[in-house]
Amino acid sequence: MVEEHFTEEEKNKLPKHVAIIMDGNGRWAKSRKRPRLFGHRNGVENVRSVVNTAREIGVPYVTLYAFSAENQNRPEEEKSGLMRLLEEFLKRELNAMLRDGIRLRAIGDLDGLPEFANRIVRETIEKTKHNSDWNLTLALNYGSRQEVLDAIHAYSQSDQNIGQKPEWDDFSQHLQTRDLPDPDLIIRTSGEFRLSNFLLLQAAYSEIYVSPLHWPDFDRTAFIGALRDYVSRERRFGKTSEQLFSLQSS
Ligand code: IPE
Ligand code: IPE
Ligand code: MG
Repeated sequence: MVEEHFTEEEKNKLPKHVAIIMDGNGRWAKSRKRPRLFGHRNGVENVRSVVNTAREIGVPYVTLYAFSAENQNRPEEEKSGLMRLLEEFLKRELNAMLRDGIRLRAIGDLDGLPEFANRIVRETIEKTKHNSDWNLTLALNYGSRQEVLDAIHAYSQSDQNIGQKPEWDDFSQHLQTRDLPDPDLIIRTSGEFRLSNFLLLQAAYSEIYVSPLHWPDFDRTAFIGALRDYVSRERRFGKTSEQLFSLQSS
């Protein structure tokens, strides 16, 4: 049983930004002797419930790794199925996003998506851009290394940076995540302990939580369990425990 209630002290420690590597749809389907796309469909169903739980508990930024640059190497049928599911999801969720004040963003190379998927993503971003209560970011055709290379290119093109020693705060403004705080917590489902080219630099001090559950089974209770684990951790950012303790009590 996971205790659902967070005390005031715990609420103050909740993550601002949770990023999720939604893995295991294929294995979930396989264990049911169903095609991979059946797993993806159930994975999409789960997105709404986790996003709603994040809102209910008060996590303002959620980022979901939905399709990696490397996932372009999957069979055409699976890729086009995923893109259709993305279109369906965005069409279906638009009204709820407008009603609930959710702003959609995307990171990744959207131009590398099929035209219909690119269009609906851009339209939904545009339609929700005045929302500011909650922030849902989809990583689509996203690869962290490419993002960093693009940022280096953009940074070096700017006249004022020529010959300057880069500062992280300036450089990070060229990453696609410039409007997002760094993820406090990265959750990966399906038991795999790797980042798979996701937010490599932004994850410098992220807490990582790996759940054995496949993404379609990672429900409200499992998400709350991850948050509960997170609030129990001590983030030291290089300091000693004693330093943090004396800061707290002063
Ligand atoms: C995650 O599930 C979804 C995407 C990568 C699009 P997978 O499709 O990777 O599922 P497994 O890892 O094969 O079980
Ligand atoms: C990472 O999952 C990408 C997404 C969840 C979208 P993968 O299933 O593609 O990762 P690897 O290949 O197991 O590292
Ligand atoms: Mg996988």
